[in-house]
Parts: sequence; structure tokens; C-alpha cells
Amino acid sequence: MRYDSITEVIGNTPLVRIDPAVHGLHHIDLYAKLEMLNPFGSVKDRAAWHMARPGLAAAVERGSQVVELSSGNTAKALAVIAGMHGMPFKSVTNRMRVPEIKDLLLLLGAEIEELPGRSECLDPTDTDDPLTLFHRALSGPDSTYLHTDQYFNARNTEAHAMGTGPEIVKDLDGRAPDWFIACVGTAGSSTGVAAVLREHDPEVKVVGLVAGKSDFIPGIRTIDEVQEVGLFDPATYDTMAPVTAEEAIDGMLTLARRCGILAGPTGGAAYFGAVRRLREADAVLADREAGEEGRQTAVFIVCDRIESYVGYLKLRRPDLFHQPPRKNTVADLSAAEIGAATVIDVPDAQKWIAQERPLVVDLRSPFAYAALHIAGSVNIVDELFDELVRGGMPFSGRQPVLLVCPIGEQSARYAALLTRMGHPDVRSLTGGVIAWRDAGAPLVRD
Ligand SMILES: Cc1ncc(COP(=O)(O)O)c(C=O)c1O
Repeated sequence: MRYDSITEVIGNTPLVRIDPAVHGLHHIDLYAKLEMLNPFGSVKDRAAWHMARPGLAAAVERGSQVVELSSGNTAKALAVIAGMHGMPFKSVTNRMRVPEIKDLLLLLGAEIEELPGRSECLDPTDTDDPLTLFHRALSGPDSTYLHTDQYFNARNTEAHAMGTGPEIVKDLDGRAPDWFIACVGTAGSSTGVAAVLREHDPEVKVVGLVAGKSDFIPGIRTIDEVQEVGLFDPATYDTMAPVTAEEAIDGMLTLARRCGILAGPTGGAAYFGAVRRLREADAVLADREAGEEGRQTAVFIVCDRIESYVGYLKLRRPDLFHQPPRKNTVADLSAAEIGAATVIDVPDAQKWIAQERPLVVDLRSPFAYAALHIAGSVNIVDELFDELVRGGMPFSGRQPVLLVCPIGEQSARYAALLTRMGHPDVRSLTGGVIAWRDAGAPLVRD
């Protein structure tokens, strides 16, 4: 195989059958589409190249910078593509949460701009969010950037409708699989592939996977966040299902250790979500005594590779690295404990602050905090807070504590944890800073 450019190596990724002894399905053949084998390491290589290509020549001429709102694989692919064309690349994001990817981007020469956004991903309905304002400026008629605009660019979806989808059909001898399972980030890959598969067989069942609420699986959205994504159309999916970070890691370990597929967490999530859904379908086929004639086929996408997520894994599964279990972590709280956390709504919190002066701890990123926060609050970003709590109770029991996060979910977990650790009066602000802002309560900026 000989190529003139590394970009020609994008696509034509293998479709590999998962050993039935591993997944345990009797009537369904399960295949992994190995997008991790794209040259820059992920499914996003296709979209990045397809989105950037038409504007490259003009952008080189203008001396433009390539810009994308991405903290992960799209940024990585674009940084390489920009560099190959002698252009700088800037990644704009609310927060880089995977340190290895941030380091890799810097290594590739990318500029990283972390904005004081309220959420982790773009929410175009939030007109005050700096990320939204930045997105508008990039997309405006006067923009001099080459902005690939992955959340809205139809070429993101098209890359998969032209490549990933047809490749799957070709490798299945001209037939669409009965099932297609994919994690949803920008929704480009799942939407593009699903459209092509349905052209071949309108009956194909499409399962979209997202992270569970307040869970973090790098590269994909939670069920709430996904509604904000421009390319997301609920009609694409027969089912949307959440996967927890723990389940994603379990799936990842199975793929790596039993199948030799060194997938990242979203590959693991896709495998886990696929097998969970297909077990039900397998039982139905068994009841029907479907036999060889009724055998079905399923395909899931492995988006990227394991190596960038060692830090992510260490934090969540220290046992895998022969480290002792983490003490005092929100991960092992029961639903009942979280439900029993003391929460306080905005009007009551305002009164409480005025009367009892609790220590107000804002768990958001320093950028979000710098942009707008409750007067007198202190900022301890959630990751740091997690470290602090691991070492023991960070506050005196004599002072009440109000925990604040973007939407009140994470703060409720930490309130539950501090309560379990013995703090007598810790509360979580219901609805977080968003509710505070929506209620018209005062916020200050640095
Ligand atoms: C690791 C990973 N998995 C899955 C996805 C989802 O792909 P899409 O954006 O096409 O929905 C992404 C997207 O960035 C990703 O980085």
C-alpha cells in the first residue's frame, strides 16, 4: 500500500468480528468498526478532513488560522491537518478535561483557548455563554478564520455518509446490518452512517449511546447535553440509552483484554451498550427459534484508542494500576445517599447566605468562575475538590457550606459525600449557577 499523503490513509477501516465466546450472543454476529485505526487516531479524522478540505487553499492564501470548538479528537486531527498546510490551529473549549489530549494538542503546535463557558459543550440557546458568543463571531460573515464548525457543519455527517456507512455495507457483502450502535458526540458519525444503512434497509435499528447524567465519558454527550447539539436529530435513533463511565470502562477492558482491540472509553461504551441491547434481541430470536435463516448482524463503532485515557482510568479504577481504592469518593455513593443530600433553592440560599454566611464553594472551572460567580464565593474546581476530599474533611464543621456547580447535580453529590463524612451542615444549590442567574440573583465577575 503506497500513498502520496497521510490524508489518503483516512477511512477504509477494518470491520472485525467479536468472538461470540466473549459477547455470548447466540443469534447475532457482532462487528466492531475500527475507526481507531484512522491515521490521527479516531473517527474524527474523516470529519476533520472532509470539513477542512474545501476551505484549505483559500485559507492558506489568506494566512488564516484553523479554529474548532473541540477539546478532543476533532482538535487533534485538525491540528495535524492545519500543520501539514503550514497553518496554525486553535482549539477553543470551555474546559480541557483529558490532560493527555491537551498535552498532545500542545505537542502538535495547537493553541488552546479555554473560555469561561458555563457548560462543557456548546449550547447555542445560552446566548450569554462565552463559547456561544465566540461561536457566533467565528461563523459570522466577517470571520477570517477557517472555522470547521463541527456541531453544525453538514460535511461532518457527510464524511460518514460517504465513507463509514458505505464501507460497512461493502464489508457485509452489500447488506446493511440489522443493528447499528454508536456513541453520540456531535452526532455526525451516527447520523451519517444511519442514513446510508437505512437506504439499504429501512428496518435497521439504530441505538445512540450517551453518558449517564453527571457522568463523564470523554468525547460524548450526556442525555441533556445532546439536545443542544446542532446535528442531533432524535429521529435518527430508534433508542437512545445512557452508559455509565464504569460500564464504558468495563466494555473497554473486555475489548482490550479479550478481543485485542485497544479501544478508548467510547469504544468500550459502544460495546457495552451494544451487548446490553442485543442480549434482549438475542432472547427474542431464541424464543422464535430463529435458526440460521433468522441470524442477525450488528455493528458498533470504536472511535479511538486507549492510550490517551490512562489518567482518566487511574482516577476511576485505581485497582487496575495496583493502587489502593480511593477513599471518600462520589463514585461509591448510593442513589439514596445522593437523594438525601440537603439541597436549597435560590431564594432560600440568598436568605441563608445573608443570615448565616456559609462558606460558598463554586466547583466550576476557574474560567467560568472568573466570568460570573456568587459574591464572596471561593472557587475550588471539581477535580481539585475531589483531591481535597480524598484526604479527609476539608472544612471545619463549625462553618456551614453551600456547594455550587453549573446545574446542581455535581454539588448534590459532594454535599452527600461531605454529609457522609460527618459535616453537620452542607447544602447544594438546586439548579446551580444557571438557576441563580435565571432567578435574576446577583452575580459578580473578576
Ligand atoms: C472519543 C470519541 N468517541 C465518540 C465520539 C462521537 O462522534 P460524533 O461526534 O461523530 O458523534 C467522539 C467525538 O468527538 C469522540 O471523540
